[in-house]
Formats: sequence, C-alpha cells, structure tokens
Amino acid sequence: MSKARIEGQDMLHIPSPTWFVGCGNMAGAILDGWRMGGLDLSPVTVIRPSGRAVEGTRVVTSVEQAGLSPRLMVLGFKPQRLAEIAPQLRAYAGAQTVVVSILAGVEIETMRGYFPEAQGIVRGAPNLPVAVRRGVTGLYGEPGDSGLKQQIGDLFVALGFAMWMADEQKLAALASVAGAGPAYVARFVAALAKAGVERGLSEDIASTLALETVLGTTWMAATGRETMDEVARRVASPNGTTEAGLAVLDRDHALDELVARTIDAAAHRGAELAEESRRASLAEAGRLS
Ligand SMILES: NC(=O)c1ccc[n+]([C@@H]2O[C@H](COP(=O)([O-])OP(=O)(O)OC[C@H]3O[C@@H](n4cnc5c(N)ncnc54)[C@H](OP(=O)(O)O)[C@@H]3O)[C@@H](O)[C@H]2O)c1
Repeated sequence: MSKARIEGQDMLHIPSPTWFVGCGNMAGAILDGWRMGGLDLSPVTVIRPSGRAVEGTRVVTSVEQAGLSPRLMVLGFKPQRLAEIAPQLRAYAGAQTVVVSILAGVEIETMRGYFPEAQGIVRGAPNLPVAVRRGVTGLYGEPGDSGLKQQIGDLFVALGFAMWMADEQKLAALASVAGAGPAYVARFVAALAKAGVERGLSEDIASTLALETVLGTTWMAATGRETMDEVARRVASPNGTTEAGLAVLDRDHALDELVARTIDAAAHRGAELAEESRRASLAEAGRLS
C-alpha cells in the first residue's frame, strides 16, 4: 500500500456516515490516530452505553439514536458481546454498508451470518500503537467495492503499517504477533526496568532507561538494514559481558521457547473465542428461523 497522495487528488477522508459501535481501548486508539493525522472525525458517530465523549465525534448511547445507515460500520466491542449486539445492528447494515470488525478471532463467515445484507465485511486486526500512528494492522475480507477497499486500506495506512492478508489464517498469524505484541513488549521493558532497580537504580530512571533502550534499538533496526542477529552481534563482543547475558537467553533456546509458548497460548484462546462466536451465531440463526 502506498502512503503517497497525489496533489490535486481528494485528501483521505472518513466515509460519511461512519459508526463506531463500541469505543474502548482499541477503537478509541484508531480514532486517536486519525485525529493525530489531521483527519476530520465529524462523519463519525460513536455508539457506546457509557456515552463518554470522544473528541471530534458525535456520541450516542444506543443504536436507535445513531441515525442513517452508515457507509462504514466499525465494530469495536468485545467478541463475547457479538451475539447480543449484532442483531440490533443488522437492519442498519444494508447494501450501502461495509462492516469492519476488529473483534479478535471472529471469522468472516460468522460475521456474514449476522450481516447477510451488508455490501461487504472486512476484518481488521490493529494493534494499540495505531493511537500514535505507529501501529500494525492486518486486513482481510471483501469490501464489495474496490474504491472503498482502497479507502479502508488508506485509512489504516494512515495509522502506521497496514496490509491486506491472503486468508484468515494469515490474519490470525499477524494478530498473534502484532496484535498482542505490544503487551509482550511492555512486559519485556518492565522486566528490564526491574533488573535495573535490583541493581540500585530508582524506578523512575530504570523505567526510562529500559524504554529508551527498546525504542532506540527498534528505531535503529527499523531505519537501518541490519537483522536482529547483526544488532545483537554488534553489541556483544566475543567473551564479553553482553555475550554472557545472551548465553542465558539463548541456552536451550530459552527465550524463543518462552515466546513460542506465549504465542501458542494466545492462539489457543483465539481459537476458543472463534468457536464460541461460531456457536453463538448458529444459535442466533436457529432462533431467527
Ligand atoms: N485492546 C487491543 O489491543 C486489541 C487489539 C486488537 C483487537 N482488539 C479487539 O477490539 C475489541 C475491543 O477491545 P478493547 O480492548 O478496546 O475493549 P474495551 O476497552 O473493553 O472496549 C469495549 C467497548 O465496547 C463498548 N460496549 C459495551 N457494550 C456495548 C453495547 N451494547 N453497544 C455498543 N458498545 C458497547 C464499551 O462501551 P463504553 O465505552 O461505553 O463502556 C467499550 O467502548 C475486541 O473485540 C478485541 O478483540 C483489541
């Protein structure tokens, strides 16, 4: 996806009207990133039971108050709420509406069962740094209209790195690394900081050092052409202090195994959630027929 825009071409804009159904951590982060990127959020109506304000948007507390059927309907509530909330939205997701679901693990087929009339259904797997336009987003699905596909892609490119995935398995793979990744990186930074405190630094200084070290290393790697192995090799001189530290992480592939087990556990939970929503959707279909 290209970030370049052509002079004289329409600026990137949010389709009007756009609904955000649910606006907690993740959906709120998407809106934060768009706001930071200078996008006009006035086409957005947020539907959330708390009615808590979201700068630049109109907020309502129920679907009935939202108004005309949206062109884009972004689903940003918890997957466990789908069977309860989707039937309220169904009548508003017609031939003009593309549904973008960020619900982790809920497959297109399940979504199609809830929104049979929608023009298109897209799954988005963003991560939290979209809030500062340094996010990663995977997209999968068929918006039904190639112009809208481009527009949805561009809206997520405006939040960092975004790409369309070939299938839902690849989307799940992306989500297992990038979607959950910020939580794992946060734990690693915290562990580095804790080690600093144990060596006598104040919590404040140790946290800053750990954060800046991760930021500096990833920035250097992202802007240069080095692999992570090369970065590690440049820090660790033979038989030196870092090499002694790396030997602990590398012994019996300790870190690789820990990360693999971490991601496996999340993937396992993802499969359970997908199965739960599939069952709930079948139960709902049975209730409607
Ligand atoms: N957090 C992440 O890093 C991440 C990453 C990728 C995908 N996701 C996906 O993003 C979705 C939201 O996760 P989250 O972490 O943002 O959750 P969250 O912070 O708990 O937000 C949930 C939102 O759902 C709203 N909600 C609850 N009941 C509703 C109803 N009946 N109608 C409309 N909205 C309702 C809540 O409204 P109020 O604000 O009024 O309480 C809240 O805004 C999940 O499906 C998750 O799988 C999250």
